Amino acid sequence: MAILVTGGAGYIGSHTVVELLNTNRDIVVLDNLSNSSEVSLERVKKITGKTAKFYQGDILDREILRKIFAENQIDSVIHFAGLKAVGESVQKPLYYYQNNVTGSIVLVEEMLKANVNTIVFSSSATVYGDPAEIPITENCPVGGTTNPYGTSKYMVERILEDTTKAFPQFSAVVLRYFNPVGAHSSGLIGEDPNGIPNNLLPYISQVAVGKLQQLSVFGSDYDTYDGTGVRDYIHVVDLAIGHLKALEKHQDDAGFHIYNLGTGTGYSVLDMVKAFEQSNEIQVPYKLVDRRPGDIATCYSNPKKALEVLGWKTERDLNQMMKDTWNWQKNNPNGYKG
Ligand code: NAD
Ligand code: WQD
Repeated sequence: MAILVTGGAGYIGSHTVVELLNTNRDIVVLDNLSNSSEVSLERVKKITGKTAKFYQGDILDREILRKIFAENQIDSVIHFAGLKAVGESVQKPLYYYQNNVTGSIVLVEEMLKANVNTIVFSSSATVYGDPAEIPITENCPVGGTTNPYGTSKYMVERILEDTTKAFPQFSAVVLRYFNPVGAHSSGLIGEDPNGIPNNLLPYISQVAVGKLQQLSVFGSDYDTYDGTGVRDYIHVVDLAIGHLKALEKHQDDAGFHIYNLGTGTGYSVLDMVKAFEQSNEIQVPYKLVDRRPGDIATCYSNPKKALEVLGWKTERDLNQMMKDTWNWQKNNPNGYKG
């Protein structure tokens, strides 16, 4: 039996495909390459010595989904495919809802027709909006999202929950990621954002490599210990392994299952700058600027449920995140473009 990984050429998807191939699972990837490159899958092959079967196509395309389910013995789907730029989602809400929400509906409809009854879905801590309490547990209220990207994640969660109620054989696992960073220790795969990065670590590493001049620290007057925003950064390989654990536990385990995937520790923006500098012995010039609209002060997880039920916890510390980020960036200054 094989696992279909949608969005498997992307950042988190490619790292998860590595871990899946390392456990000898048969993997089929569907990706439209709208935010990735097939080179990532060649690198995955280099790392694992194994090949994931690749279909270039869209989750909105029923024909390709039917073809994949007909040609392969798929027993579960890990669903990463989606658009993820918060700012762009405000400009292009319909595009985001069409891709992320309609795309997920089409995928689930075709799964049900093909009698594929397990899905693991990439959700986000963003569904908690401005969180009711810190650290955030899975029971915190959700839905107070502030942009179409976040709302699309919340909507897909609700759609999956309703699907598990209507189809008693269906197992849906929602993984709420905190802030994924880092790269595979080989330096062969990593995050390859298009244009100027929105996220903190890609921005820091592009300053370090000399592509950008200095980091703008968005806000130094938050109610946090140094005034800058605090987040729960998680190494992408730990995150990838979380998917394997989720699948191990909930394959064909009908119902709706939710987990936070984070470390449980919050670091500030200035902590991250200092850690990058210390781990890699390289300066990261920065300036303090105004807050970025829509940002919250503090967001970190209580990851206890994932430990208790899945037996999963993070193993890679901040130093490892920084070293692996830099190893990827310095060896691939232009990402997969060479
Ligand atoms: P990514 O952009 O690197 O990967 C997403 C992949 O999906 C890309 O390869 C893209 O080409 C593909 N894709 C997009 N729309 C598609 C479609 N309609 N059909 C087929 N393929 C499509 O992003 P990532 O960081 O690896 O994120 C993976 C998932 O995790 C996304 O759903 C994202 O929203 C979610 N997530 C990411 C973060 C983060 O900070 N990176 C945090 C929380 C949740
Ligand atoms: C982290 C911290 C910024 C860039 C976003 C999405 C979320 C999820 C992860 C997908 C904040 C500060 C950043 C910069 C800075 N994605 N910062 N200068 O905002 O926590 O979460 O990515 O689901 O939905 O909203 O991550 O990396 O953008 O920011 O000072 O150039 O770094 O203000 O405090 P964020 P981020």
